[in-house]
Amino acid sequence: MKSATKPQGYPPVSCKEVAFVGRSNVGKSSMINAILGRKLLAKTSGRPGKTQLINFFRVGVKDDAQEQKGELSFVDLPGYGYAKVNLQEKESWRRMIQAYLAGRPQLLGVLLLVDIRHKLDFKDELMQQMLQEQKIPYLVVATKSDKLGVSKVASICKKNFPFAVVPFSSKSKKGVSKVLEWINEL
Ligand code: GTP
Ligand code: MG
Repeated sequence: MKSATKPQGYPPVSCKEVAFVGRSNVGKSSMINAILGRKLLAKTSGRPGKTQLINFFRVGVKDDAQEQKGELSFVDLPGYGYAKVNLQEKESWRRMIQAYLAGRPQLLGVLLLVDIRHKLDFKDELMQQMLQEQKIPYLVVATKSDKLGVSKVASICKKNFPFAVVPFSSKSKKGVSKVLEWINEL
């Protein structure tokens, strides 16, 4: 629908919204494409810091009989923790995300993406804290699970994350149905 940095630029839609947050390069844009079965809807890149704006996508929702049931909006947020941006840019990122989370009453929930191979860092924890303070439901998704052997996934998740996470891969589509179920429940 639209890209924006400030609340004045958000599309004036009233449909419910689901947002995707996480560190740069963790696979947010790839996940939007994977769960929508699209290849190039959200732009992805091997270079961290690809998504710089808040991008709003309109998503049609069908019921079990494949009848159009309504609409949702998916929001691809710029990543945090991109080492090559300066302090001023990091601060403007924080303000942009905080303004979005605080000023979007139609926001149903957030998918918080972390790389399955790494423990949470302080920015992930700050993000979790922001979501808890704003009382926004969120699900932690551990991305790039295809980078681990199948037998390692459960043990690495247990080692890296002190709470339940959904292992996910945009490549193999692992976890897609779990994420869609969560969105459906919301
Ligand atoms: P920013 O927009 O910079 O914040 O990044 P992003 O979180 O949107 O990441 P993006 O989807 O652009 O993916 C970053 C890189 O990781 C790309 O090279 C993707 O191909 C790769 N990638 C994303 N998801 C997966 C995955 O599930 N498995 C593997 N192996 N690679 C992935
Ligand atoms: Mg992106």
